[in-house]
Amino acid sequence: MARISASVYTSHVPAIGAALDLGKSHEPYWQKVFSGYEFSKQWLKEQKPDVIFLVYNDHANAFSLELIPTFAIGTAAEYAIADEGWGPRPVPPVVGHPELASHIAQSVIQDDFDLTIVNRMAVDHGLTVPLSLMCGQPTAWPCPVIPFAVNVVQYPVPSGRRCYQLGKAIRKAVESFDRPLNVQIWGTGGMSHQLQGPRAGLINAEWDNRFLDRLIADPEDLSKMPHIDYVREAGSEGIELVMWLIARGAMSDKPPVVKHRFFHVPASNTAVGHLILENT
Ligand code: DHB
Ligand code: FE
Repeated sequence: MARISASVYTSHVPAIGAALDLGKSHEPYWQKVFSGYEFSKQWLKEQKPDVIFLVYNDHANAFSLELIPTFAIGTAAEYAIADEGWGPRPVPPVVGHPELASHIAQSVIQDDFDLTIVNRMAVDHGLTVPLSLMCGQPTAWPCPVIPFAVNVVQYPVPSGRRCYQLGKAIRKAVESFDRPLNVQIWGTGGMSHQLQGPRAGLINAEWDNRFLDRLIADPEDLSKMPHIDYVREAGSEGIELVMWLIARGAMSDKPPVVKHRFFHVPASNTAVGHLILENT
């Protein structure tokens, strides 16, 4: 059977992708960000996952106000890189895993989570920047990726509680797939940031670190936190953090091993947070 061996959590700031793509990653400002991922790149090489289930949000690139799926699972064989206004990022195409993705869709929908099934979708910085942070600049990504897009852009967005419960349904789905795959689940977005309005530039490092503590130690309790707390404390885009609860919900009920923890301000307008948790 397939199993979820570990979860990875990371911010997905688009300027990090631009720094890599434009050859600026050696600059002191960016070095401080990338230094937090040195361990992670080595760890990922050693772990050799067969599939990455990557929870992220689309930023009005694949979807728009015309069509707003709350939870969208990619079941395609391949995904194009989105053009976010200055051409697609020069990164490898994302290869999917249609068999496992379809199985997860079947299981999770039968478990009462209404997913949108997507067979054609361009993936934006929400998905590609985490891959770049964890893999550097390879000619091909190390394994197939199942994109899982969550609406955290246009209200109403799903609650932390629903995201956490969905993670549990995803775990059950993976564990009932009849092939011995090593699956990782990644939760991306956050941490505190606000990109517009009078509070643009808001960072709340203390709240972010408390979020990391609670995500590790008591995700069930953390999942009860209402949206207004995210927005008030972590800024309007801090709501992206509900996606981390999907990845955390997919982990075993036993306490995880904290393999790596990193927090850094600033990167563009955002506090960068990063965690690696392994199942025991
Ligand atoms: C920034 C961060 C994001 O998560 C995003 O989607 C867009 C911009 C930023 O920090 O600039
Ligand atoms: Fe974002």
